[in-house]
Amino acid sequence: MCGIIAYTGHRPAVPVIMEGLHRLEYRGYDSSGVCFVRNRELRVVRAEGKLNILEDKLAGMDISLATTGMGHTRWATHGAPTENNAHPHLSFKRNLAIVHNGIIENYRECKDILLDKGYLFFSETDTEVLANLIADEQVEGMPLIRAFARALEKADGAYAVALLSPEEPDTIYAARQSAPLLIGSGAGENFAASDIPAFLPYTRDVIFLEDGELARITPSGVDVFSIADLKPVLKTMTRIEWDLQAAQKGGYKHFMLKEIFEQPRAVADCFAGRVDAKRSAVRIPELEGRPVPSRLRIVACGTSRHAGLWSRSLMESWAGIPTTVETASEFRYRNALLTPGESLLVISQSGETADTLAALRLVKEKGAASIGICNVIGSSIAREADTVIFTQAGPEISVASTKAMSAQMTVLMLMALYWGETNGTLSREIRNRALAELADIPAGLSGVLPTLESEAADLAARFASCKGMFFLGRGQSFPLALEGALKVKELSYIHAEGYASGEMKHGPIALIDPDFPSFFILPHDAHFAKTLSNLEEVAARKGPVIALTNPPKDGMEIRGGESWLLPEAWGPLSSFFMLPALQLFSYKAAAFLGKDVDQPRNLAKSVTVE
Ligand code: F6R
Repeated sequence: MCGIIAYTGHRPAVPVIMEGLHRLEYRGYDSSGVCFVRNRELRVVRAEGKLNILEDKLAGMDISLATTGMGHTRWATHGAPTENNAHPHLSFKRNLAIVHNGIIENYRECKDILLDKGYLFFSETDTEVLANLIADEQVEGMPLIRAFARALEKADGAYAVALLSPEEPDTIYAARQSAPLLIGSGAGENFAASDIPAFLPYTRDVIFLEDGELARITPSGVDVFSIADLKPVLKTMTRIEWDLQAAQKGGYKHFMLKEIFEQPRAVADCFAGRVDAKRSAVRIPELEGRPVPSRLRIVACGTSRHAGLWSRSLMESWAGIPTTVETASEFRYRNALLTPGESLLVISQSGETADTLAALRLVKEKGAASIGICNVIGSSIAREADTVIFTQAGPEISVASTKAMSAQMTVLMLMALYWGETNGTLSREIRNRALAELADIPAGLSGVLPTLESEAADLAARFASCKGMFFLGRGQSFPLALEGALKVKELSYIHAEGYASGEMKHGPIALIDPDFPSFFILPHDAHFAKTLSNLEEVAARKGPVIALTNPPKDGMEIRGGESWLLPEAWGPLSSFFMLPALQLFSYKAAAFLGKDVDQPRNLAKSVTVE
């Protein structure tokens, strides 16, 4: 996720900005840049790669006189991670520069209009389009703030933007819509940044910008307006008492918890730019012009494999593509036969998992087409797959994967809709319903996560000391059961089994006793009645039962055990609530047992060995 820091005050701006960028490094980035005003001209310095490369470029420059400037670390979304695509981006008229975090969904349409008006573009980014959109709004005598607000009104999507212009060399403008941006208020100096650590050494007084707000920031003050009508908005100041490490975790105790809470954003970002404004068509440019696979072979490891398993029924029922899902470490050694027209789909958060990468190379050697789903731009799988679709989850720092899986599920669901549409196997009703309901998931999830966290803590306190536990589900709840068990094992070192609920009675049911609880993933779906029978079988053997289910309604009551009630959602979308509940339970169980949540023993974030 990109990082923004802007400064205006009495100190040389560039060193303050560079320090701020270093403090935002944890967000991940692949290029960086700064800009400042000198002799009433904008100076922009950018570099591909790590911040020391940018620092080397700045070393030979006279930067000491600039007391206002902005910096950016870029996590590439539109366009490769090159110097040219790095921020800040200048308008074609070179009269303003912006840094941006987020995605401008309608940037192609805006770019076409600007191209017709004679604007030239020097990068592949949506950010440069926004810079020119602002420049285009400027007419003689119009204050810059108005042009900025008018351009933002035309831009759909998510953004945090900071703007600097030599016309007002001591002023930073900053605006936000669905992407983080806050203001640090100091004595004779002020800041705008993506996150508090960027300015924490200078001030602890913070103003949180809300969606639809725009700030004018000068050394002596901060004024906030509504973007829609530029009416002033009264803001309050919050004093931050966290230390730096806590601030990097956004006030959460662990990165894992922060990342669980980032899932609404991850889902929204994967959706953004891939679905049209009417929520009636999916656009995946990375798949355009490629034949729909006649069969799909999904290969991945761990959590990413569970996302693949979750998608199988969507690929089959919506897209009409026979699909198998395999563990990469097994697939690579069994000389698998691929049929003509079959494509490999590799899923990997890191893009560096050795077995998944080996499977990809093997299939490429056999001449089959390959598609990657990855979270890390520039990773090996992203570079080597024939085409790659990026999940927009932002960097995942906690070793246990959480938000990457929600992002993978979102992308997989969009792919199934896209292929279903192309294949003519999907009804318009299902497509429209799926898109409308998926669009509502981020808000629904944001609303319920705090409650789930406290309910998970209560369950964890009661069950974390058991000798083992089952996670059981059927259909799309089966991969969630596998994921629930994996999370419990890796974080709290409690033995947990993930099983298909119908398979229980073929042996594992012998484990059931009062010290061996079973978590049933039991949404109100087509499998409810069957899975409920399995639940009753366990309850009858005196095994504690916890059903992750929806509020009871006629014919769907649960007898036996206790229920953990989660919001009901249409079709496969209930998984977007079940998954975070499972993640929170495993997190709370590990925290209850005093385990190292972010760095569990024996594990590494990316498994680059066999
Ligand atoms: C579990 C976990 C692992 C990874 C697996 C694959 O929490 O993080 O199971 O999912 O190592 O990693 P990627 O997705 O990077 O290929």
